[in-house]
Amino acid sequence: MRSADSTSRRIAVLASGRGSNLQAILDAIAEGRLAAEIAGVFSDKPGAHALERVPERLRWSADAKSFPFREAFDAALADAVDAVQPDWIVCAGYMRILGADFVRRFRGRLLNIHPSLLPKYRGLHTHRRALEAGDTEHGASVHFVVPELDAGAVIAQVRIPVLPDDSPETLAERLLPREHRLLIDVLALCLSGRVAEQGEGVLLDGHPLFTPLQLDCGA
Ligand code: GRF
Repeated sequence: MRSADSTSRRIAVLASGRGSNLQAILDAIAEGRLAAEIAGVFSDKPGAHALERVPERLRWSADAKSFPFREAFDAALADAVDAVQPDWIVCAGYMRILGADFVRRFRGRLLNIHPSLLPKYRGLHTHRRALEAGDTEHGASVHFVVPELDAGAVIAQVRIPVLPDDSPETLAERLLPREHRLLIDVLALCLSGRVAEQGEGVLLDGHPLFTPLQLDCGA
C-alpha cells in the first residue's frame, strides 16, 4: 500500500553484485538525507550480496541463465519491477544489458550510474581504460538509460584527479565514495521532480541542460 507522502519517491534498484550504491541509498534514507523508499531490489544474480541489504519481502532475483532467451528474462524482470510500482528505477551496479523492450517500458524514469566521465569508456574496465589513455581526470556519471549501452543523456558527473601511481584498483577505491554521493544528489533532484528526460536530452527545472551538472561530492 502506498502512503500519501510516498508520491514519486518509490525507488526500484537493480543490482548484480555487492550493492554499495544500494547501501548508500539505504543510508541516505535512514539518515533523512533522501526522502524516498525502496520499492524493491532486483537482481540477475540470486547470490548477489546487494539482495541481503534489504528485507526478504523487498527482494526479487532470477538466474538469467535459466531463461531460454534474453527477452524472456527481461520480461520477467520488467513485470516484477512494475509490480512494486516504482517511480524511479536505478541500475546501481547492474551488470546485465537491458533489452530495448525493458528500456522502452520504463524510459524516462530509468537511471544508471557508470564509473566514467561519459561519453568516455562506455562498457567495462573503465578505470583501466582511463589509465591506459593517460587521462589526468576520471569520474562517474549518472544518466538516463536508453537501449544503446551507457549512451543515454547524462544528468550529472563527479570528477577526481588521476594520481601518478594510481592503479585501476586505487582509482576505483577513491572514486566509489564520490559515486555514492553523486547518486544520492541526482536521486534527490529526480525525486523532487526537478529533472526529466526529454528526447535525447535532460531538462533541469524545465530548461534544457546543455552539459551535465558537475557536482562536487567532495569528501
Ligand atoms: C560501481 O562502480 C558502479 O558505478 C558500477 O559498478 C560498481 C558497482 O558497485 N556500475 P556496487 O555493486 O554498487 O557496490
